Amino acid sequence: MSLHQIMYISSATGPMSATECATIAQAAAERNQADNVTGLLLFNSKRFLQVLEGPREAVDRIYARIGRDGRHNALVKLRDIPIDAREFGEWGMAYDDPFQPSSALKDKVAALLDRAGPSTRAHFIGSAEMHRG
Ligand SMILES: Cc1cc2nc3c(=O)[nH]c(=O)nc-3n(C[C@H](O)[C@H](O)[C@H](O)COP(=O)(O)O)c2cc1C
Repeated sequence: MSLHQIMYISSATGPMSATECATIAQAAAERNQADNVTGLLLFNSKRFLQVLEGPREAVDRIYARIGRDGRHNALVKLRDIPIDAREFGEWGMAYDDPFQPSSALKDKVAALLDRAGPSTRAHFIGSAEMHRG
């Protein structure tokens, strides 16, 4: 079966703690599992960046459902492409802090943010981080 990947960024509509976001990721992992969908959720305390990967129909359906969630808005889809292999297949819905990625995810998060491009990276991480060198 062919695989599809969607990546988007969005903005939290209200205050949210890292713990609350981790809880969203945990619930997401449980729900997505039924559809064979995996991914990553990054949260920088204001914005989300999420990757969803799996069968196209399921990824599209889950993305549509997420888009109706009042806890975030201003969703911008950054990628919507067929993929050969999952990047985040080992995780149901890996949750991470982009400023302090876990060692298991560090390289993948860095690669993902590189691929997201400089403007998205700046938007999500902030320009200070970009120039940290
Ligand atoms: C940033 C963010 C990411 C989310 N990711 C997922 C996800 O990957 N899978 C999922 O089922 N729900 C996810 N949710 C939760 C859904 O938006 C929704 O609340 C949940 O699927 C329950 O939907 P329902 O209330 O229509 O049953 C996410 C929510 C937010 C705010």
